[in-house]
Amino acid sequence: MDVRSSVGGRGGGGGVGAGTSHGVLLLNSNGMDVVYTGDRITYKVIGGVLDLYFFPGPSPEGVMEQYTELIGRPTPMPYWSFGFHQCRYGYKNVADLERVVAGYAKAHIPLEVIWTDIDYMDAYKDFTLDPINFPVEKMKEFISSIHKNGQKYVLILDPGISVNETYGTYIRGMQADIFIKREGVPYLGVVWPGLVYFPDFLHPSSESYWGGEIKRFHDVLPFDGLWIDMNEVSNFITSPPLPSTLDNPPYKINNSGVHRPINNKTTPATSYHFGNISDYNAHNLYGLLEARATNTALVNATGKRPFILARSTFVSSGKHTAHWTGDNAATWDDLAYSIPAILNFGLFGIPMVGADICGFSQNTTEELCNRWIQLGAFYPFARDHSDNDTIRQELYLWDSVAASARKVLGLRYRLLPYLYTLMYEANRKGIPIARPLFFSFPEDTMTYNIYSQFLIGKGVMVTPVLKSGAQTMDAYFPSGNWFDLFNYSNSVSTASGMNVMLHAPPDHPHVHVREGNILAMQGEAMTTKAARRMPFELLVVVDGNGDSSGQVFLDDGEDVEMGGEGNKWTLVKFYCERTGNGVVIRSEVVNGEFALIEKWVIDKVTILGLREGTRMMRLKGHESNDVEATPGRRTVKTVGKSSDGGEFGIAEVSGLSLPLGKPFKLEVKLRQSYNRILSEKTVSM
Ligand code: GLC
Repeated sequence: MDVRSSVGGRGGGGGVGAGTSHGVLLLNSNGMDVVYTGDRITYKVIGGVLDLYFFPGPSPEGVMEQYTELIGRPTPMPYWSFGFHQCRYGYKNVADLERVVAGYAKAHIPLEVIWTDIDYMDAYKDFTLDPINFPVEKMKEFISSIHKNGQKYVLILDPGISVNETYGTYIRGMQADIFIKREGVPYLGVVWPGLVYFPDFLHPSSESYWGGEIKRFHDVLPFDGLWIDMNEVSNFITSPPLPSTLDNPPYKINNSGVHRPINNKTTPATSYHFGNISDYNAHNLYGLLEARATNTALVNATGKRPFILARSTFVSSGKHTAHWTGDNAATWDDLAYSIPAILNFGLFGIPMVGADICGFSQNTTEELCNRWIQLGAFYPFARDHSDNDTIRQELYLWDSVAASARKVLGLRYRLLPYLYTLMYEANRKGIPIARPLFFSFPEDTMTYNIYSQFLIGKGVMVTPVLKSGAQTMDAYFPSGNWFDLFNYSNSVSTASGMNVMLHAPPDHPHVHVREGNILAMQGEAMTTKAARRMPFELLVVVDGNGDSSGQVFLDDGEDVEMGGEGNKWTLVKFYCERTGNGVVIRSEVVNGEFALIEKWVIDKVTILGLREGTRMMRLKGHESNDVEATPGRRTVKTVGKSSDGGEFGIAEVSGLSLPLGKPFKLEVKLRQSYNRILSEKTVSM
């Protein structure tokens, strides 16, 4: 939305070696046009300071690390926020919310968070409840019952405060003199409640004002997160310009994509913030400053890690909030656009991002919603949301969509430890959760233009169907052996990257894991809380060199800091190496105590990527852990044709009970030399 600066970009010509990356950031909060013409980028900026930064990379990860070191690392998100969210503009009353929650339970589709849009408010006033449809006592009961079930509740706030002499939030705002002014008086806009004033988040008292309102409301209604909308700032009116160059700048930026006046449906450029700062200069910072104040307010009100979702963002918003891509439509085009949109926000330093699943405006269809959940289940932030004049689109409403939802959300919940560990990496180093293919394959120029597929982390690739009626789709697979996460027997093998036509019946989305990765997964469950209690499975995807690795980060999921001081977290690194005629899988543990207290164990290790003919001979435990599997629980199935005509074996060792908090070494011997078999096989293209 308001992100007008850019980061990213890959070298390839002009003396920069292929595979190297760099980033450029113009840090400037004024209106601007950014024109990209293929080989150059032009910034047309109408004011402010020109701070231009270059990030040398040379890897995409390096660029992100350097950029987020400057602007601030992404804030950690609570574990629960990686569950599935359901929202709608137009939930009528508490009974309606209860029906939706029950609908998910009945259909056995995981639902983590139920949201309310502006419908819950009394006449659309922030921090109030509609006394008829969302009466406070009923809402409290409702929240307490979903909390008992391990579920969460998020509500919306808009910045516009209703001008109303009997409304406490307004009265306190006037007393604190908190509102943005124009010509010396609070600027009068119009949003959902009618006439409104907008709090000025540059005002030194804004944190105590906004924080005070949030705390007061939280004391009444224990919500778990906040959705801050309309913060561009969005205004239903365009106030007439004053005769000034601020309201009539000589260069007309391409506002709203159609050269609308600078004051189009927002706070005018000649409105003023604290310290005599014009909105002309500070306009684009509104959403960022509101997110910052809201984050602080939530920490104060709850003492826990905040979850905030913001529509307007700026450079460094990721330090405070998650983001959704705004009002999309239930169209196939918008389904497809959602991929580059979420990838861009990852590059901007806001890794927790998603688009409204099944589409916001216009009526969705069964087919579109089915394909959308197959993609949206793998957005870092997964929320179904719709407009109030559209048909309902909860995932249980169509049998086909419900079946897909169970399948893809089932996989998402199994991957929760992986997603959460990627949040940790994002928080430490700024690297996005959802990444373009070139992140892992910067030397493969074929990946540069791909925006219909993406990676989660370094080695899980999502290839969604984006076209109506499609039964097949063209996918690109960078080099390596890739395994279908819904059916480990399906694999694609390529030495240097290739296009593959994948079959895409309505119930089969494509998610592959690449060789070289070790994924720590847990079991499926209806809530993240229940999923976290399930034993772990290690999915070890060996590669020819035996360099597979992975890690998992564990904490209580709601401490304000992620991996901070103290020992209330555990980090486990996994390595798989080839030894003679077998593989050794071992772990290194940092701060194991937390995982031991939580009693997390690995009960199953699955090894993919073993070539045809390999047989597992024996298992041997080492060091501190006894890793002998229960007799009869070791299997090697040689199934699964690879695209190169060969076969991969799937070795499964179950019945283990390896404490995650202790280092282990697991040796899997194979009858035939793993080495020999691999070198015998030629991977054909
Ligand atoms: C805006 C938001 C949308 C929300 C609506 C009503 O259009 O983008 O998500 O449902 O306002 O609050």
